[in-house]
Amino acid sequence: MTPDFRLVPALPEHVDVWMAMRDEPVSRALMPLEPATRESLLERLRSSTSDLSDPKATSFRWMVELDGRIIGTVAARELSRFQGRVEIGYMLSSAYHGRGIGTRAVARVLERLFEWPFLHRVWLTTAADNLASQGVARKLGFKLEGVMREHYLIDGKRKDQQVWGLLRSEWEQASSRRVM
Ligand SMILES: CC(C)(COP(=O)(O)OP(=O)(O)OC[C@H]1O[C@@H](n2cnc3c(N)ncnc32)[C@H](O)[C@@H]1OP(=O)(O)O)[C@@H](O)C(=O)NCCC(=O)NCCS
Repeated sequence: MTPDFRLVPALPEHVDVWMAMRDEPVSRALMPLEPATRESLLERLRSSTSDLSDPKATSFRWMVELDGRIIGTVAARELSRFQGRVEIGYMLSSAYHGRGIGTRAVARVLERLFEWPFLHRVWLTTAADNLASQGVARKLGFKLEGVMREHYLIDGKRKDQQVWGLLRSEWEQASSRRVM
């Protein structure tokens, strides 16, 4: 992995690159993306932060930068400090799929999220036919916890939604293996 790979705070100026990623055929075929205007995406960028120390924030987003180009995004949303849980989502531009970048980017976000001492669990959902997303989840130690049948409507087709979860203990165990 090039040393120029990094996470940067998501800013309103990233709206067009984010829109373009959402519009790619792979994203539209595998993600339950509801139609969104540029203004609504701008609003989502303005209302999220990358500052994990903000005590009121519940929605976080980073962009993935490679060699100075924005090529993806990772988000954490619906944080409940009381329940100790947060949901993550991720997307890369298709030109960069299958090179391990998704796994690396999500791992970096997990490292940051688990710095919250109250965080017990991270979860994500994915379509049953989204093998790349499941690959990222599995590699990072998430366990498949259940399936919501035909819960997604993607590109006009009903699809099963998988729910994956990662407990702090599993993340710490996996991290200690990564160090060794
Ligand atoms: C999901 C996504 C972020 C994965 O990122 P990526 O960089 O392509 O994934 P990685 O290269 O880190 O691969 C992770 C694992 O999944 C496997 N994998 C990747 N693409 C795969 C595919 N198309 N089919 C089957 N397995 C695949 C890899 O082999 C890898 O496991 P391995 O290292 O043991 O071989 C990326 O494919 C993407 O942006 N897809 C479109 C948006 C999306 O689906 N987002 C997730 C919504 S839940």
